[in-house]
Amino acid sequence: MLTHELGNSRLQVSVLAIGTAALSGHVPDWGSTDDNEAVAAIHRATDGGINLIDTSPAYGHGRAETLVGRAVRGRREQVLLATRCGRVPVNGDGGWRTCLAPDSIIRECEASLRRLQTDHIDLYQCHEPDPNTPIRQTMEALADLVREGKVRFIGLGHFGCQEIAAAAEYGRICCVQTPLSLLNRRAATDLIPFCQELNLGVLAHSPLALGLLAGGYGPDSRITGIRSRNLNFKPPRFARNLAFVEKLREIARGYGKTVGQLAVRWVLRQPGVTTAVFGATRPSQVEEILAAVGWDLAPEDDERINALLQEL
Ligand SMILES: NC(=O)c1ccc[n+]([C@@H]2O[C@H](COP(=O)([O-])OP(=O)(O)OC[C@H]3O[C@@H](n4cnc5c(N)ncnc54)[C@H](OP(=O)(O)O)[C@@H]3O)[C@@H](O)[C@H]2O)c1
Repeated sequence: MLTHELGNSRLQVSVLAIGTAALSGHVPDWGSTDDNEAVAAIHRATDGGINLIDTSPAYGHGRAETLVGRAVRGRREQVLLATRCGRVPVNGDGGWRTCLAPDSIIRECEASLRRLQTDHIDLYQCHEPDPNTPIRQTMEALADLVREGKVRFIGLGHFGCQEIAAAAEYGRICCVQTPLSLLNRRAATDLIPFCQELNLGVLAHSPLALGLLAGGYGPDSRITGIRSRNLNFKPPRFARNLAFVEKLREIARGYGKTVGQLAVRWVLRQPGVTTAVFGATRPSQVEEILAAVGWDLAPEDDERINALLQEL
């Protein structure tokens, strides 16, 4: 699979990365998942040339990291592991709070290394800004982890342009992770151009809009968990989105592609995007998304999609 250098790092990352939030078996949000299927999905991804696996201790309270650790046993050298810090559990009731305090980051890192069964994390990302910790302290703690060889590169999650600039003053960041899909294009206007200026890589997550753009939803679908809190799945937007997906499906058919493949392809075409981080719960889903690369949209179809987006 085609690879890109991740921002200013030396890391060559595949243009597709597999995300593991949906594999976490976190029932209220994502629904239950089968561990063997989850490991098989990760294996299908790495067998298909994907070398970047994105996870977090917050996904299923460590369960996703544990599964990733299991999945990469025996193939650790072939993959780059990206995980996160900054969301710490509270009260043991499934809740969490943002914390990027140095001692908390060090503790989180040790726990992630144990769950991932590795001695280093290739990309360590801060989930989101912590208003209670000066960013200088956070960046210094991360730099210590890099010096100790526990972390290779640092990335940021849901940070705005000013917050990225502030973090970059105190340490070396190589990339930013942001949502980007045909149904969520906000980052394309300011955040991604800003990352390009700073030579930061962009990990575009949720290219399938939580599965809506994979084409399996209909007017009668039961919407639960994380999707029930997402505006794209609520009326009146949901019906408009379903009609949009049908029009995209028609365009995709012209290439012998599925609408999900077209949706991911569209993300990869956006200037400044290094990698699309998609989620999947089964090997067959990964199989489909692997075929989102190796082809391109003709300019007239790109224009058709732009026209559809104007109407949306
Ligand atoms: N969501 C967030 O807020 C967020 C935030 C930060 C980072 N990330 C990272 O980005 C990754 C991906 O994000 P995401 O999972 O939210 O979104 P996504 O890639 O837009 O959607 C993933 C969902 O689409 C469905 N899907 C995937 N392939 C399919 C196929 N071939 N056919 C039909 N349905 C298919 C699956 O849902 P079903 O299995 O339910 O059908 C899957 O869980 C996360 O795992 C995480 O690593 C996400």
